[in-house]
Amino acid sequence: MRAAVCSVHGPPESVEIREVDAPTPGPGQVVVSVRAAAVNFPDVLIVADRYQLSVPTPFVPGSEFAGEVAELGEGVSTPAVGDRVRGTVFHGAFAEQVVIDADRVHPIPDDVTMVDAAGFYVTHATAYHCLRSVASLQKGERLLVTGAAGGVGSAAVALGVAMGAEVVAVASGREKLDLCERLGASVLVDASADDLRGALRESVPDGIDVVLDPVGGDVAEPAVRACRYGARFVTVGFASGDIPAIPLNLVLLKGVTLAGFEMRGFGTHHPDLMSRDLQELEDLFASGVVRPAVGATLPLDEVVEALRLLADRRATGKIIIVP
Ligand SMILES: NC(=O)c1ccc[n+]([C@@H]2O[C@H](COP(=O)([O-])OP(=O)(O)OC[C@H]3O[C@@H](n4cnc5c(N)ncnc54)[C@H](OP(=O)(O)O)[C@@H]3O)[C@@H](O)[C@H]2O)c1
Repeated sequence: MRAAVCSVHGPPESVEIREVDAPTPGPGQVVVSVRAAAVNFPDVLIVADRYQLSVPTPFVPGSEFAGEVAELGEGVSTPAVGDRVRGTVFHGAFAEQVVIDADRVHPIPDDVTMVDAAGFYVTHATAYHCLRSVASLQKGERLLVTGAAGGVGSAAVALGVAMGAEVVAVASGREKLDLCERLGASVLVDASADDLRGALRESVPDGIDVVLDPVGGDVAEPAVRACRYGARFVTVGFASGDIPAIPLNLVLLKGVTLAGFEMRGFGTHHPDLMSRDLQELEDLFASGVVRPAVGATLPLDEVVEALRLLADRRATGKIIIVP
């Protein structure tokens, strides 16, 4: 089969398309023919060996996919061959086929496309856990999302709107802000403004209740400064490449609660909240209330460009690879 192989850690250009052996399912596993695979920022970090966990080379990147079950391992009764499923793996999804434990795939509703199914889970689950369980976002509150046209950001905008919040979207440039507006954000602030702090003060003079920040860097401190007394600030990633140092006097004076979210730790320490959130998210997805904002679909041959779009900050919405 054809697969994107990273044989040496580095920039997206370290990944090339090769013929490799097709996977075979072990006991309790299935092989899925991948029809769509989402690109997430951690894929860029894993290829660069800048992620929390290192993957030895050579490996096939890609962590989120949708497709059809092609082969069953010993002892598997469900799903059946031909079933439409989605799933997540640590790596291996940027390929024509992927192997996964049978109990880790989820059925795709009939009316959902493979592209939407592939692009939903990672970013929406991340955003929903942050809003629902970490920040306890309430109807009528004001939510500020940084990187609001990115994967996690666009999911947070759509989910924040669905939860009844007023959403302030911070993103770079007209095209990205237009996407945020289409997703329901009611206040749009350009992240590339010379004076982001002043731009936020002007746009939301009476402040923010909840911040969801997947960017860090230069946008985090202005976002803290834009908080109302008693606000909750959730840090979820550092797509800017810079981990900000927030002056704690701001946190003290504004009574801000700083919270962090990381998927593996959340699942380990809060399994009940994780199950509740995922059930609610599944319902939102099945009822069509929320869908991923797909910005572009690219063939597997263009995997380098797909990773580059995220690495270079050029992605608007989700980028999906279609093998
Ligand atoms: N904690 C968790 O469990 C978890 C789960 C998933 C993802 N994450 C993290 O969340 C972050 C966002 O992931 P994502 O998949 O949403 O990424 P994405 O789609 O690439 O979005 C990231 C956004 O960050 C902004 N950005 C600012 N400076 C940037 C730079 N130098 N390079 C790239 N982007 C930059 C961009 O928005 P503007 O151009 O509009 O500023 C971009 O839209 C990543 O750090 C990822 O590792 C964490």
